[in-house]
Amino acid sequence: MSQVFDVLVIGAGPGGYIAAIRAAQLGFKVACAESNPYADPKGEPRLGGTCLNVGCIPSKALLASSEEFEKIGHHVANHGIQVGSVSIDIKKMLARKDEIVNKMTGGISFLFRKNKVTSIKGHASFVGKTADGYQIQITGKDAGTITAKNVIIATGSKARHLPNIPVDNVLVCDNEGALKFDSLPKRLGVIGAGVIGLELGSVWRRVGSQVTVLEALPSFLGACDEGIAKEAKKIFTKQGLDIYMGVKIDGVKADKKGVVVSYQDSTGKPQKLECDRLIVSVGRVPNTEGLNLEAIQIKTDERGFIPINDHTCATSAPGVYAIGDVVRGPMLAHKAEDEGVLVAELLAGQKPHIDYNCIPWVIYTDPEIAWVGKTEQQLKAEGRPYKAGQFPFMANGRALGMDRADGFVKILADAKTDEVLGVHIIGPNASDLIAEAALAMEFKAAAEDIARVCHPHPSLSEVMREAALATDQRALNM
Ligand code: FAD
Ligand code: NAI
Repeated sequence: MSQVFDVLVIGAGPGGYIAAIRAAQLGFKVACAESNPYADPKGEPRLGGTCLNVGCIPSKALLASSEEFEKIGHHVANHGIQVGSVSIDIKKMLARKDEIVNKMTGGISFLFRKNKVTSIKGHASFVGKTADGYQIQITGKDAGTITAKNVIIATGSKARHLPNIPVDNVLVCDNEGALKFDSLPKRLGVIGAGVIGLELGSVWRRVGSQVTVLEALPSFLGACDEGIAKEAKKIFTKQGLDIYMGVKIDGVKADKKGVVVSYQDSTGKPQKLECDRLIVSVGRVPNTEGLNLEAIQIKTDERGFIPINDHTCATSAPGVYAIGDVVRGPMLAHKAEDEGVLVAELLAGQKPHIDYNCIPWVIYTDPEIAWVGKTEQQLKAEGRPYKAGQFPFMANGRALGMDRADGFVKILADAKTDEVLGVHIIGPNASDLIAEAALAMEFKAAAEDIARVCHPHPSLSEVMREAALATDQRALNM
C-alpha cells in the first residue's frame, strides 16, 4: 500500500476510530491503521482497541451476566420468587461476551466502510517527513509506506505489570486473561483495588469465587469522594470481597498447584495468599511501542505519555496530534472519543473545546459508583467554600420497588453562587444518572437549576433533584 492521505489515525480504539469517522465526515481523506493481536474471523486485527476487545465492552458483558446470576440466586426471593438451585455455565457466559465483542468490532468495520475511512491492517511507525507530509511505514497485512499530511496518534495503553511478577494470562493475569477464565477459580487473588480490580473481582465473586483484594495504598478508592469511597468499601466488604489495604507485595509464585502471593500486611507482618488465579490490576501505561517517535523528534515524558498542548492535543511535531490513553488525563473511552472529535474538528478549522472537569467517571460495581467534577476533599484543599446536599436511595420509592436502595447522591455546590461543582453517586444506575450531572455542569448550572427541573416520578432521577434541594436544606422527602 502506498497512498497519500489528509489524515492518518494510528490505532482504532475509541479515540482513533471516532477521530477517523469525524475527520471523514468533515471531508478529509482518512486512513486508520490498527495492529492488535485480537484477530477477527479473517485472522486480521480487530478494530475497537482495548475498549471493545479487552476492556469496557467485554467487562460490562461479564458484569451483566454475573449480576443476573447473583440477582436470581440471592435477590429475587425478596420479590416472592422462588427458584431452585441456580448454576452458571462459565463457557456460555464467555461465549456471550465474545459474541458481543465480535458484533461491536464488526460494527466499526461497517462504520469505516460507510464513512469511506480506509482501514489499514498493520503496525504503523514514523519514518520521517517530506514536503508531501509524514512518511509512515506499515508492517503487517497492508505493508507499505503511507504519506499523511496530518497524523493522529491514538495508540492507547497496556496493562502495567509489576517487576518480578510475570503475567502468563493463565494463572497470573492482567485484564486480558481475567476476561477469559475458562473455569471458575475457587479462590481468586487480585492485586490492586482500583477500577479493574473491583469490577472484575465483582464478576468472579458473584459467580462463586472467594475473592481477596490486596491494595498498596492505605485509603480505598482515593480518586473518589471520601464519603462515597467509605460507603463503597462497607458495601463491597458486606458482599464478600476481602479487601486488605496498605499491603506491600513481596513476590508471586505460580505453578500447577496454584498461585501464592507473599506480602506484608499494613502492620508489616509477612502474610501469604494462596489462590487458584491472580489478577494484577495496578494501572495502565501509555503505548508508544514501535512508533519510532524519534523520527519526528517527539519525546515522551517521564511516565511515557506523549506531551501535547492541553487545549488542542497538538504534539511538538506540526500536524501530529495525540489523543486518548497515550496522553495525559483520565484513561477513559469517552475522554478518548471526545479528544478524537476535537482534533478532527480543529483540522477542519472549527473551534471545539473539552471541559475536562466535566468528564464523568463510572465504576460498574453493584451498586455503581459515578462522579463528575470536584470531590469534597479537593474543594477543601482548594479552600473553596461549598455546600453539600445528600439524599439516600433508601428514601426513593422507585429504588425500594427495585430492591436497589443502597447508596446516595451527593451534590456539591459553590457556597455563594450555587454553581454545581461536583456530583457523586453510589447507587443503582449511577452510570446513567451521572449524565444529568455532566450536562448540568457543562451548562454551569446551579443546584437550584437541577432542583427546579421537573423529574419523572417514580424514578431514580428524583434522588438527584432531592440532593440538589438538600444543598439548601430543603429536601422534600426526608
Ligand atoms: P485503545 O483503546 O487502547 O486503542 C489503541 C489501539 O491502538 C489498540 O487497538 C492498539 O492495538 C493500536 N495500536 C497501538 N500502536 C499501534 C501502532 N503502532 N500501529 C497500529 N495500531 C497501533 N473506559 C471507560 O470509559 N469505561 C469503561 O467501562 C472502561 N472499562 C475498561 C475495562 C478494562 C478491563 C480496561 C482494561 C479498560 C477499560 N476502560 C474503560 C478504559 C478504556 O478501554 C480506554 O480508556 C480506551 O480504550 C482508550 O482508548 P484509546 O483509543 O486511547 O486506546
Ligand atoms: P487503577 O489505577 O484504577 O487502580 C490500580 C490500583 O492498584 C490502585 O488502587 C493502586 O494504588 C494499586 N496498586 C498499584 N501498585 C500496586 C502494588 N504494587 N500493590 C498493590 N496495589 C497496587 O488501575 P486499573 O484498575 O488497573 O485500571 C486501569 C485504568 O483503566 C483505570 O484507571 C481506568 O482509567 C481504566 N478503566 C476504567 C474503567 C471504567 O471506566 N469503568 C474500568 C476499568 C478500567
